[in-house]
Amino acid sequence: MIIVNIPLLDLKRQYKLVKEMVSINIEKVLESAHYINGPLNKKFEEQIKKYVNVKHAIGVANGTDALVLALEALGIGAGDEVITTTWTFYATAEAIAYVGATPVFIDVDLDDFNILVDKIEEKITNRTKAIIAVHIFGNPCNMGEINKVAKTNNLYVIEDAAQAIGSSYKGKMIGSMSDITTFSFFPTKNLGAYGDGGMITTNSDNLATVIRALKTHGSGIYGKKAYDYLNGISVVESAESEENQVYSAKKYFNYIVGHNSRLDELQAAVLLSKLPYLDIWNKKRNSIADKYNKSLIGVKQPGINSDSFSCYHLYVLQCEYRDDLATYLKENGISTGVYYPVPMHLQEVFKHLGYKKGDLPNSEYLSKRTIAIPAHEMLKPEEVDYIIEKINSFKE
Ligand SMILES: Cc1ncc(COP(=O)(O)O)c(C=O)c1O
Repeated sequence: MIIVNIPLLDLKRQYKLVKEMVSINIEKVLESAHYINGPLNKKFEEQIKKYVNVKHAIGVANGTDALVLALEALGIGAGDEVITTTWTFYATAEAIAYVGATPVFIDVDLDDFNILVDKIEEKITNRTKAIIAVHIFGNPCNMGEINKVAKTNNLYVIEDAAQAIGSSYKGKMIGSMSDITTFSFFPTKNLGAYGDGGMITTNSDNLATVIRALKTHGSGIYGKKAYDYLNGISVVESAESEENQVYSAKKYFNYIVGHNSRLDELQAAVLLSKLPYLDIWNKKRNSIADKYNKSLIGVKQPGINSDSFSCYHLYVLQCEYRDDLATYLKENGISTGVYYPVPMHLQEVFKHLGYKKGDLPNSEYLSKRTIAIPAHEMLKPEEVDYIIEKINSFKE
């Protein structure tokens, strides 16, 4: 008997493909002894800048910190409100609460799981400072409409693109269309590190300066520049190299309260090794998704915004008998996942905000029906066929 074991994501298979390059790049870091803010960090930032087509790309420790730093750089904190989707990973809402602001949750579309843009305006108050759009499962939000609402109401826009590296909207890469975009390189992401990692992109020189200061204790050259900018003092370009912040003479001069949130040099080495594969992998995910869309019966396929290219971080179906389907697939060697079992507005941690069951009905409906099936780039054609055959033969 053949034992089938198809994981939701196959990082072991993927490692075999990138192993040689990863080893070479890691060796470079180890031999250089340049472990923090080293040359591979810089190279990776440059490559992401080009890939996303944005002015600044700033490596940080993870996607959660990226959101916190983005909010802080925009001056968002206690007393402010930030509008976002209820259908996301906790970090989006957690970052808002972490800086002392209040998350205001909006329901999502039943087809593509993204924020219902026409529900945003009714939630705007004089305390609202920003919208965080989350490109959930890699599927881009309607950025045209979101930016329009934000502009009319004088709000910042942050894109949480933790799940959307390589996605695009109307031909533009995600990461270049709002005030700040944040990415995660958590190992399971389409571009995953071998540990934590994150990135912030922005076209604003001033925001980039503040973010670079915030990620390194608000010290050094960037700390000084950020301090001057935040205090309305004209920013003077320093003659000292910005590349060598670790050994900078200004390292122990602190200007603003920041964090220690750098992208680890070893993770930059891993990410540089994998980046050349990203578009190939995302295309492969798309061809698998196409096949599922054409072949699966008895389940609802995910909708994709027609202006967009999704990196298909996850392929998420809807099924009325979701839990039975998950058990059946598990018995047949196919792993699945539930994203997400509890929308943000019903999480215990946000009880004090006063949301009740039924307030955001689409997300509550989806939380009982969604199931992610394997759609990753390492799947073999016969495994895709097997998954289709098993789902189509499922009887509730
Ligand atoms: C939508 C979303 N936002 C933020 C994050 C946080 O990223 P990280 O795990 O790198 O902190 C994640 C990661 O899982 C995510 O999926």
